[in-house]
Amino acid sequence: MADRLCVHLDGNPVYDIVLEQSFESLADEVKKLGTETKKLCIVTDSNVAMLYLDEVKSRLSKVCQEADVFIFPAGEENKNLNTVRDLYETLIQKAYQRNDMLIALGGGVTGDLCGFAAATYLRGISFIQIPTTLLAQVDSSIGGKTGVDFDAYKNMVGAFHMPRLVYTNVKTLATLPQEQFISGMGEVVKHGLIQNKDYYHWLISNSAKIMERDLFVCQHMILESNKIKQNVVEADPTEKGNRALLNFGHTLGHSIEKLKNFSMPHGHCVAIGCLAAARISVNRGYLSEDELDALKRAMSTFQMPLQIEGVLSDSVLEAVKHDKKMEAGKIKFILLKSLGQAVADPTVSREEMLLGLSEILARDV
Ligand code: GLY
Repeated sequence: MADRLCVHLDGNPVYDIVLEQSFESLADEVKKLGTETKKLCIVTDSNVAMLYLDEVKSRLSKVCQEADVFIFPAGEENKNLNTVRDLYETLIQKAYQRNDMLIALGGGVTGDLCGFAAATYLRGISFIQIPTTLLAQVDSSIGGKTGVDFDAYKNMVGAFHMPRLVYTNVKTLATLPQEQFISGMGEVVKHGLIQNKDYYHWLISNSAKIMERDLFVCQHMILESNKIKQNVVEADPTEKGNRALLNFGHTLGHSIEKLKNFSMPHGHCVAIGCLAAARISVNRGYLSEDELDALKRAMSTFQMPLQIEGVLSDSVLEAVKHDKKMEAGKIKFILLKSLGQAVADPTVSREEMLLGLSEILARDV
């Protein structure tokens, strides 16, 4: 049974999010966008190409004038302007025009990179997201953030560019490495914490089925997470205000990710950052110790780390200062006012962050 959401901007429908357990209705969904006279270029990485490219290409070939493929080597290290350049070259050689389309088939790296190429090629062409990782299905494919890394700076070059469709085949979770599944769960738990207490409790009650990757339970989970992200991005598409609430766990989490040289998956860093931010929320009297303990138990159930080693709290705070989410020299720290209710707070002090970090740093080496 398919699920469908429609993301609106300024009250107008902009794109559908379709959740299915196969690629069966992909061609019909894409055809609705008037693709029969267009060229479609499927952008994917070397891992996902082996798994899903043949099926996706054969289905899409039936609803377009020409289906092309651009495959780049898998890995965050290739999410850069060199790969975008290679993609532009392919599009120019194949004479892609402004009304042709790109298809991002893969995880967050592919979606961000393909979306950025779509935002900039010929000053912007359409693109579709077919996310195949949990992280991309619940987070990066929704909301139009696109971009690439620049040298050591993550997502430093980018643009807001909305997809025309997000098509999630939940069955792709079956081939996802466990570490990446857990990483996606970091963003899922974050969604419950920031906006929907009932969903957070539902996640805990259904943890066994989620960890078995029961398709029906996972589809419901992705749908609920998509609704939360949809609410946030519809209200603030370009992060002028409350979209920043999605950054709960990211201020400290992202700094830890950098200090770990991106060896720890993004969602694990977000999860550990959520725990530190939850500790600060407890210290402020917003959450109870019991609620923090329950969060730790939930994170253990979802196999997320509760502590990390080899990171200095001073180094984390130094890295925070260079976070691109700073505004006028102030850190827009996201706290929980209560479970399911996040708030941006520019007054979180260095001392509060140190106490938050002491919750998650195993040893100050
Ligand atoms: N991943 C956070 C956002 O889309 O705003």
